[in-house]
Amino acid sequence: MVAGEGPFDAPLVLVGEAPGRLEDESGHPFVGRSGQLLLELLEETTRLTRSDVFITNTVRCRPPDNRTPTTIERSSCAHWLDGELQMLSAPVIVAVGATATRALLGHATVMRDVHGTEQSSDRTTAVVVPAFHPAAALRGGAAIVDALRGDLAFAGSLATRTQR
Ligand code: URA
Repeated sequence: MVAGEGPFDAPLVLVGEAPGRLEDESGHPFVGRSGQLLLELLEETTRLTRSDVFITNTVRCRPPDNRTPTTIERSSCAHWLDGELQMLSAPVIVAVGATATRALLGHATVMRDVHGTEQSSDRTTAVVVPAFHPAAALRGGAAIVDALRGDLAFAGSLATRTQR
């Protein structure tokens, strides 16, 4: 099981999709290639490092063959994420990728339309900022890396401006 980790008073929360192989082996979220890119871009744009933010996922366990977690898997793990969200005071949550965005917004979206915007969620009073997933950025090249960089910069600037 890979639980969320980080300070409960973090200014920013990152919610990803699901643990991958390295996360499954180590027990820590976002430690693989995707996590490295995500945290590199976060530090570059906001100066926040891994230990400054709270990092978690929509589900606690790695889905077989790295597939997208199903709706049933997301709902059976929902109490873990909701418990974390209740304890956190961050004004801004970054929904990293389409699965986390769907989980927080409660409906499917097109990432190209919603990334880098302010959204609200029934699951938290924090502002939700959907961002491209770093795995999509690793596959999609410079344009998606730049879009993710912009999403994180926007979330970071919102977090420094917003009190909760
Ligand atoms: N690692 C995670 O913890 N979550 C993801 O969404 C991807 C990689």
